[in-house]
Amino acid sequence: MRLVLALAAALLATPVLAAPVTVSSPSGVITVAVDVNGEGRPEYSVSRLGTAIISPSRLGFLLTDAPKLERNFTIAEAGRRSVDDRWEQPWGERRFVRDRHNELRVRLSEKTPPGRSIDVVFRVFDDGVGFRYEFPAALGQVNIAEEITEFAVAQPATAWWIPAFQWNREEYLYNKTRLTEVGIAQTPMTIRTDDGLHIAFHEASLVDYSGMQLQNEGNGRFRAILTPSSTGAKVSRAAPFPTPWRTMQIADRAGGLVENDLVLNLNEPNRLGDVSWVEPFKYVGVWWAMHLDKESWGPGPKHGANTANVKRYIDFAAQHGFRGVLVEGWNEGWNDDWFANGKDFSFTRSYPDFDIEELARYGRAKGVRLVGHHETAGNIAVYEPQLDAAFDLYERLGIDAVKTGYVADMGGIQATGPDGKVRFEWHEGQRMAQHHLKVVTEAAERKIAINPHEPIKDTGLRRTYPNWVAREGARGMEFNAWGQPPNPPEHEANLVFTRMLAGPMDFTPGILSLDGRNQPILSTQAKQLALYVVLYSPIQMAADLIENYQQNMRPFQFIKDVPADWSESRVLYGEIGDFVTIVRKDRRSENWYLGAVTDEESRVLEVPLSFLTPGKRYRAQIYRDGPNAHYRTNGKDIVIEERNVTAADMLTVRLAPGGGQAIRFVAAR
Ligand code: NOJ
Ligand code: CA
Repeated sequence: MRLVLALAAALLATPVLAAPVTVSSPSGVITVAVDVNGEGRPEYSVSRLGTAIISPSRLGFLLTDAPKLERNFTIAEAGRRSVDDRWEQPWGERRFVRDRHNELRVRLSEKTPPGRSIDVVFRVFDDGVGFRYEFPAALGQVNIAEEITEFAVAQPATAWWIPAFQWNREEYLYNKTRLTEVGIAQTPMTIRTDDGLHIAFHEASLVDYSGMQLQNEGNGRFRAILTPSSTGAKVSRAAPFPTPWRTMQIADRAGGLVENDLVLNLNEPNRLGDVSWVEPFKYVGVWWAMHLDKESWGPGPKHGANTANVKRYIDFAAQHGFRGVLVEGWNEGWNDDWFANGKDFSFTRSYPDFDIEELARYGRAKGVRLVGHHETAGNIAVYEPQLDAAFDLYERLGIDAVKTGYVADMGGIQATGPDGKVRFEWHEGQRMAQHHLKVVTEAAERKIAINPHEPIKDTGLRRTYPNWVAREGARGMEFNAWGQPPNPPEHEANLVFTRMLAGPMDFTPGILSLDGRNQPILSTQAKQLALYVVLYSPIQMAADLIENYQQNMRPFQFIKDVPADWSESRVLYGEIGDFVTIVRKDRRSENWYLGAVTDEESRVLEVPLSFLTPGKRYRAQIYRDGPNAHYRTNGKDIVIEERNVTAADMLTVRLAPGGGQAIRFVAAR
């Protein structure tokens, strides 16, 4: 008690600081200044190498049941801290991550009654800034109507963004517009200033809070707009608690955004202890056939999840070295109207033609595991009471990875509230932030990994909960089956610099047939292979039908060889929405892999192989677009060849229109 009083006295005695208070990144590249204006409104600004990049931008909150926390403040600086740390990822794009930043904690205190205080904590890295609010216990129950954090971009810029609050959630094609023409955007939103600086706006550690979208207020100024909740307040929580971090990843090169670890660094370390049971893997499955309408999720003559068909997939997986077989449509509830309500889903009762016990046993005998599936249609009121039993079943059967799904339109989540009533919620609202962590932590208790589709956005929580291996949260391969329009050639080069900055995506590449449902896929075969390197995920699906792989065994070899876990990753070339070349080193060998993709334009890139270990000899297994390859007319023109290379070599990488290239560099013994 005495200690607490002494601390309180120390804080009270803290002098009101001469504003602005500043903090710079460890090498002095980025500086953040915090100030209060004439009305006592707190503001922050960001400069890089002396140039303003974020002009004074407001900080604060509107509350539903108390006066807003937004003006009449003074600044008391409570502390500074410097961190230079290195931590290891259990799996990921790289094994070791450096966390080097300077922290400034600012206490904002109201000058007159009610005299409340709130902390804002800034972490400034040489390649970005994160800041969050911390509500102290004295504020008791906090009901947030809106967060009024602003991001006022100081330079004219181009933006890549998808709209927020639209019916199809995160599954939109990217817009490229002037920053001034953005509407309400989801994050990550990536911009390039006219003088070439890249900034991605996002958030880190979205826990028990509502997802942030960005509203254009004009002149490059954006304001946070939180996802609604059925309770009125967008966030209701008992203090003390921190908000998620508001993040800006900043880089000269577009590729610098991808190499940036800011979002992970702002998340809490692993809370699950030993996570050696979380294994990166590749999988095949009863999936694409449904999207092609050759098989069905629901029962009937086309039911895909039947024992014989799944055995065929298990045999294929065992023969070609895939660990997993995903099976969708295995459980009761896929009635004609599942999409609209999800009320009939059982997560323990399988259809009679799917013998789950026998299939789990059959797989085990061949070293293959089923990948579970929980489609909820957004009805978590039906799902949550079944969670325990559902995961118990999978645990007993040795099923250690589960794809979940929340197919429902915007605002269409059905969730039980504290009063037992079912209400409609949003996919990125506070209720869903709570739900996803409940699923992930309950799964972790049974050593099960989780991969949600139609998810809440990724904010780097895989660091804290490493069994949260991937998610969807963008237009994936399924749009190439039935999407109107299908994904255009630039789509993946957009994803890398936007959605992928948030974290791994279960995109499900590898459709070597290049056929959707009555529509061609706008890609080449070589590009399908390159996606395994370009779009990072620790779980990668080989999504095509077995018979299509059997007809394309030579290119399929790359999908068999490529790992899903890396010790290093680098972006050699890249421009948002145009092209990108990524190299990654296998976590378990000395082999390197290269993936390059382009938009509808062909490219010729000179690639220095200096990423390879100097002095070592490598056999390069090259899968490249053939001379006549074209995403519209001739996607299957592929050349597969080998040559010997070293780090001293230069490789000319030719990409056809809509094409790509994949290379495996096998280190000589
Ligand atoms: C949408 C998912 O993205 C897709 O992968 C899945 O097959 C369907 N929902 C059905 O669950
Ligand atoms: Ca989807």
